[in-house]
Amino acid sequence: MNAEVNEPNAMTVATVGSNLRPSTRVVLIKGYDERGIVWYTNYDSRKGKELAGNPFAALQFHWVELERVVRIEGRVERVSEAESDAYFNSRPLDSRIGAWASPQSQVISGRSVLVANAAKYGAQFLLNPPRPAHWGGFRLVPDRWEFWQGRKSRLHDRLRYEPHNGAWLRERLAP
Ligand SMILES: Cc1cc2nc3c(=O)[nH]c(=O)nc-3n(C[C@H](O)[C@H](O)[C@H](O)COP(=O)(O)O)c2cc1C
Repeated sequence: MNAEVNEPNAMTVATVGSNLRPSTRVVLIKGYDERGIVWYTNYDSRKGKELAGNPFAALQFHWVELERVVRIEGRVERVSEAESDAYFNSRPLDSRIGAWASPQSQVISGRSVLVANAAKYGAQFLLNPPRPAHWGGFRLVPDRWEFWQGRKSRLHDRLRYEPHNGAWLRERLAP
């Protein structure tokens, strides 16, 4: 953020479906602490269903201007209902209505479905839409990190961290 790169909070999330095919999409990181990395989404979306069946994911940030990549892998769990409520209630009204109006990743017959849904839920909930049960946070609990730093020489740095005897083992990988 200090470097003012574009969309510094955008990360790619890779999941794997029951057919063993990987899929990716971009989401925004909304929290991180010693427990892991959090983003919010629709639990009934493609990623939500894939994570329900196979709770492992990989995340990737690419900050082009800094020649930096961070790759993170681990198990994914849902955040608590209280955490999802708190974040949902902090969102602008349009976004809260949108969580009701958009059946994320389902086929719809046209944009009018979204507009009609937004009008319907807007009228129903007015200024206080509750969090839908199908919407909330996921937390990836990291068990592998890689920090990639590009260098002019092309002999780039790659540092990998993995748990080892209760600490993080740091190893350098060839670029
Ligand atoms: C910059 C950017 C940020 C996004 N942030 C989110 C997000 O935080 N949560 C989300 O569900 N989708 C977000 N999206 C939309 C997703 O990329 C994707 O279209 C959607 O989640 C459906 O993915 P799925 O069908 O694989 O589940 C974002 C897209 C872009 C381009």
